Amino acid sequence: MRHLLIDTDTASDDVVAIIMALREPTVQVEAITVVAGNLPLDYAVRNALIAVEEARTYAPPVYRGVERPFLRPLLTAESVHGQDGLGDMNHPPPRLQAAPGHAVDALIDAARRFPHQLEIVTLGPLMNLALACLKAPEIVSLVQRVTVMGGAGFGRGNVTPTAEFNLYVDAEAAQIVLNSGLPLTFVGWDMCTEEAFLSADELDELASSSDVAAFCVRCNATLRAFNQRMWGKDGIDFADPVAMAVALDPSIMTDSVRAYGKVEHQSELTYGQLVIDTYHLLKCAPNATFARAVDGARFKALLRRLIA
Ligand code: RIB
Ligand code: CA
Repeated sequence: MRHLLIDTDTASDDVVAIIMALREPTVQVEAITVVAGNLPLDYAVRNALIAVEEARTYAPPVYRGVERPFLRPLLTAESVHGQDGLGDMNHPPPRLQAAPGHAVDALIDAARRFPHQLEIVTLGPLMNLALACLKAPEIVSLVQRVTVMGGAGFGRGNVTPTAEFNLYVDAEAAQIVLNSGLPLTFVGWDMCTEEAFLSADELDELASSSDVAAFCVRCNATLRAFNQRMWGKDGIDFADPVAMAVALDPSIMTDSVRAYGKVEHQSELTYGQLVIDTYHLLKCAPNATFARAVDGARFKALLRRLIA
């Protein structure tokens, strides 16, 4: 059995990724740690609890984490995911409650409980993971793998021309994680906008396949409308589910590069940009693996197997 910890700023696409993991029989989600990002922390925690209930499998503990960036004000994304982060469909409040204790301590504890076995998947800004590395540096050698949904990869940003949301919310935290020595794989925004993009027809087919899938599509209605308005595309770029698919089955990432990466945190214009030194021009040791291609068809097949 694989041991997974999910760190999330739970809005509608995070919810789908969490449900995927909870319905993957070969994986045990040991904990869900929540961080502010898409939404203020209270809403993100609420949505994580709802995701656990909607997965209809088992209920790992959900922990409250860092509620703001280290230096900058919190940037949220209600316009993308809805005021409640779940497409404003008036979902009833969860019956489950958050576990006592802080997410950072839960993350450190999980690394110690499953030495060399814990796989972490981050779906939001990196304040929880950064603080865990600062508080307990030894976890760097205990964690088996970290899959990060973050960065614009080799494409364009989605918050500024160069920055993707998760790294833009707190570039300092992201740089601390990149500097940590953790075994990092970054799945960038560019991995979800092309062959992994879910078209309107694919979404409609998915929604009609099961109650769980219908919830996953419905709670992303605001994201779908945002895409139509912003990018002129009817469908969903499922960033977190693509990253989760790579975490669950790394062979879905069909091309990658091991390189030195750095997150810009001193320039206002390019704050949050993930600079990937593909050709080793800076002569700095590689510190992460960066996805360059994913198999869109296999991502969609895995998504259907897990939620349809
Ligand atoms: O840029 C996309 C990422 O930002 C996704 O994780 C989405 O949920 C938001 O957190
Ligand atoms: Ca997210």
